[in-house]
Amino acid sequence: MEIFICKDYDHASKLAANILASHILLKPDSILGLATGSTPVGMYKYLVEKFNAGELSFKEVKSFNLDEYVKLPKDDVNSYYTFMYENLFNHIDIDKENVNIPDGNVVDPIKFCDDYDKKIDECGGIDVQILGIGQNAHIGFNEPDSVFYEKTRVVDLAESTIKANSRFFNTLEEVPTQAISMGIGTIMKSKHIILMANGESKAEAIKNMIVGDIDPKVPASILKLHPRVTVIVDEEAGALVKDYI
Ligand code: F6R
Repeated sequence: MEIFICKDYDHASKLAANILASHILLKPDSILGLATGSTPVGMYKYLVEKFNAGELSFKEVKSFNLDEYVKLPKDDVNSYYTFMYENLFNHIDIDKENVNIPDGNVVDPIKFCDDYDKKIDECGGIDVQILGIGQNAHIGFNEPDSVFYEKTRVVDLAESTIKANSRFFNTLEEVPTQAISMGIGTIMKSKHIILMANGESKAEAIKNMIVGDIDPKVPASILKLHPRVTVIVDEEAGALVKDYI
């Protein structure tokens, strides 16, 4: 695990964008695993800047998103589909046929999830997976006590996650209680994982992930067993680990 403590969110976003861009430059048909949420917004902004400057093309890239809410219409302002198009896909040259986002409204979610994992494998696996982290150390929507080898599936969101995500909705009741999420087993098969975090509210989760034991109560702690993980945090999120690294 390599750990970068950056001076602020902007610096962290730029570093993550540079690493992701270097993957695409070295392998233009890279398979990207992408995250939503507030953490990667700055990184997506820098990727769009690189595209606009003619430094980067996504023409041959394929992408797989980590998760999507169940039963939220695709075009809802809070769907991860909307998020990805607004923050990235509408602004770059990715072929929309190559974009994969879990569909939270499918009739047969079990088949959908199996097919999602199969499609990732058939593409050759994810080259670089972007992750944020929950305050409870979830990755994707793999909440504490998730099974480490799980694949993509429908998950119940933890109360704390529903509360944290309610900042985007009008009321707590509007926040979906389930999501389709890549499993930790799916995530761990990625060749390179970049986990990003910023702000004081993530400091405890980052400490538990890096310093604590590997424990299903801290889903991100399993990343210690992955051969290539890059953790990029700002000073606030890294505050409790700086004396250990
Ligand atoms: C998003 C995802 C989640 C978020 C996490 C942090 O696709 O899978 O694990 O990365 O909840 O969210 P933010 O970045 O909003 O703090």
